[in-house]
Amino acid sequence: MSDEKKPIWIVGITGASGMPYALRLLDILEGVCEEVHVVFSEAAIRVLHEEQGVKIKPSRLAAEQLIERESRRMFFYDNKDIGAAIASGSFLTEGMVIVPCSMGTLGAVANGLCQNLIHRAADVVLKEGRRLVIVPRETPLSAIHLRNMLALSEMQTRIVPAMPGFYQRPKILEDIVDMMVMKILDQMGIHRELVPRWGRDRDEKKGRVLARSSELFSLYSPDQE
Ligand SMILES: Cc1cc2nc3c(=O)[nH]c(=O)nc-3n(C[C@H](O)[C@H](O)[C@H](O)COP(=O)(O)O)c2cc1C
Repeated sequence: MSDEKKPIWIVGITGASGMPYALRLLDILEGVCEEVHVVFSEAAIRVLHEEQGVKIKPSRLAAEQLIERESRRMFFYDNKDIGAAIASGSFLTEGMVIVPCSMGTLGAVANGLCQNLIHRAADVVLKEGRRLVIVPRETPLSAIHLRNMLALSEMQTRIVPAMPGFYQRPKILEDIVDMMVMKILDQMGIHRELVPRWGRDRDEKKGRVLARSSELFSLYSPDQE
């Protein structure tokens, strides 16, 4: 057994489109983290219902509603609870991921507006120099959105836009979700092979993905043009 200490992460889920990313990320983190501290914004609760058909109440939220199994490692907070443990820098965590991140929350975090627990927890992660990973989702993007992303990037925030690639020829929705979630996990320093990485042959046993990198490479080889 490894002596390596498992990390503690905060997950903020806000009202942008992309709930499948959030749920899959929670599913993975529950298996690899010591603790996962989860906050839904009010808008996220609405979007979760629209996108997944899942109705939740933060005060009565349990892991099985989100990841189909019980968990002692997942803790849930009300977004209004600005006195929660994760609102303080003395509560030690590896960092925070906001997935999906609405343009409203992006703007609030970029400008230090601590109007709810998600904003405050992100503010704490920034001030403590911990890792902040943001998965913004909107299209098209305005100059305001782009400026806010630049401001956060200049503060060492990892910006991972919910922009799935198609070069691995996803067959089903889960392939697209897993590709994005692997990108998010990489930025959290948690490396998992959810889909084959570029340059690696496919895992035949998994049977889902996609094409050999050599085949793909030949498709785009400038020699053939
Ligand atoms: C179904 C649905 C989808 C939405 N998708 C997005 C989106 O992709 N990006 C975004 O910035 N806002 C989106 N919104 C709007 C946000 O939910 C809204 O701006 C909200 O105030 C954000 O609050 P929050 O940041 O506290 O979650 C969506 C709203 C709904 C109801």
